[in-house]
Amino acid sequence: MQNNPDQFSSKIGFVLAAAGSAVGIGNLVGFPVAAAKNGGGAFLLLYIFFVVAICLPLILAELSLGRATGKGPLGAFHQVAKGNKAWVLAGALSLITPFMIAVFYSVLTVWLLGYFVLVLLGQLDQLATPVFFGGFITSPWIFAYLAAVIAIVVFVLKGGVRDGIEKASRLLMPMLFVMLIGLAVFVLTLPNASAGLKFYFTPQLDRITWSVVNGALSQAFFSLSLGMGILITYGSYLRKQDNLVQSAKLLAATDTGVALVAGLMTLPAIFAIYPNTNPSELSDSSVGLIFSFFPNIFMAMAPKFGYLVSSCIAAVFFLLAFVAAITSLVSIIEVPVAALKAQGKKTRNKALSWVLAGIVVGALLCALSFGQVQWLSEFAFYSGANKSLFDVLVDVFYDTILPFNGLLICLLVVWQWKRHNMGAEMAAGGHTGWLERYTHFALAFWIPAILATVFAVTVITK
Ligand code: PHE
Repeated sequence: MQNNPDQFSSKIGFVLAAAGSAVGIGNLVGFPVAAAKNGGGAFLLLYIFFVVAICLPLILAELSLGRATGKGPLGAFHQVAKGNKAWVLAGALSLITPFMIAVFYSVLTVWLLGYFVLVLLGQLDQLATPVFFGGFITSPWIFAYLAAVIAIVVFVLKGGVRDGIEKASRLLMPMLFVMLIGLAVFVLTLPNASAGLKFYFTPQLDRITWSVVNGALSQAFFSLSLGMGILITYGSYLRKQDNLVQSAKLLAATDTGVALVAGLMTLPAIFAIYPNTNPSELSDSSVGLIFSFFPNIFMAMAPKFGYLVSSCIAAVFFLLAFVAAITSLVSIIEVPVAALKAQGKKTRNKALSWVLAGIVVGALLCALSFGQVQWLSEFAFYSGANKSLFDVLVDVFYDTILPFNGLLICLLVVWQWKRHNMGAEMAAGGHTGWLERYTHFALAFWIPAILATVFAVTVITK
């Protein structure tokens, strides 16, 4: 345990943090948006297939790598590849990725906080109007919310409240789940909601295109916090007697369960609230659209329960979503902080200051890329459109790089570490059947083949 970053007070604390890491905006917003854009049932089918056939073995690979080396991604890559420079570069990519994700994720977290505050201020009805979102994300208030989010992150990471947050999220995350189920049941009582249900559960296989495949794969990686060193670090905190296969299954089931229920709430809501929308035509800015769906779901409650009660329910929802986002954000930031500390011989506080300073600069630039500053708003031109800095970061670090990082993990395990070593690590806590045998086999064959193909096609067609 010597090499481990010392930030976690207890092992159980880290286990909870890993679940907190996985469940976040990706489940609540990313999954429903991706499912709506990518053909509903067809996406759902592919998503579940990818979680089981590709992500579960990779979760196991990351956990095993972490536990065997007792290190975070950079250290683990270095140790397993015995100093081979090319692999150290790959380890570096697993640091840049969480950093960049932290940049755009903090912007999303800021929006959630803003919506929570505005609901408290009695503005639920305004949030539900389609034009509100655009004005909100370009308003100067964003900077105040960003400052608040950073302050909360610093407080969590430095203030010794880590245990408290983790205990709180043990209570709050099940609450979020129950609330999602309740909201889904409510949404299903709205007219035309059943059309959304049909869209969600009917796999129209002719809708499967490359972008659907890529969408499902990257969403699965992102949602499971895979391909960015988090689970390697998580693994380094597990004890030898812990059963890795069971932990991996639990993590995947929890995360996927929350995403599926979020979809069950959101897709029928889209059809009920905007009966004329064709979900497949949702544009890249549909994240914004989802931000206006949520308030609409709560406004639809107002005739039944009254505006005040609906606003209270909305406030609880945005608060829970915000807590889920903060626990994810903290986990992403942890990876570069721990690595800086280990590599640069910096103190933890210094490393944290550097990383946070970088994230603040990046988040500010992103927050200004929605029309306020022209070069940031037209940062790059591809796929026939001018893309903002925010969109570019999402396209590169959410849509493209994650499967590539997964491919690197496969290659590292198969070529450098060797599968029998991984097998021994995986089974150290007891043998567990099919998943273990499947992982052993698939990691060397179709998983790398599928990941390489999806990565190549995405790069070529973007
Ligand atoms: N998995 C988190 C979510 O679904 C986001 C996340 C991404 C967390 C990457 C850590 C690393 O929202």
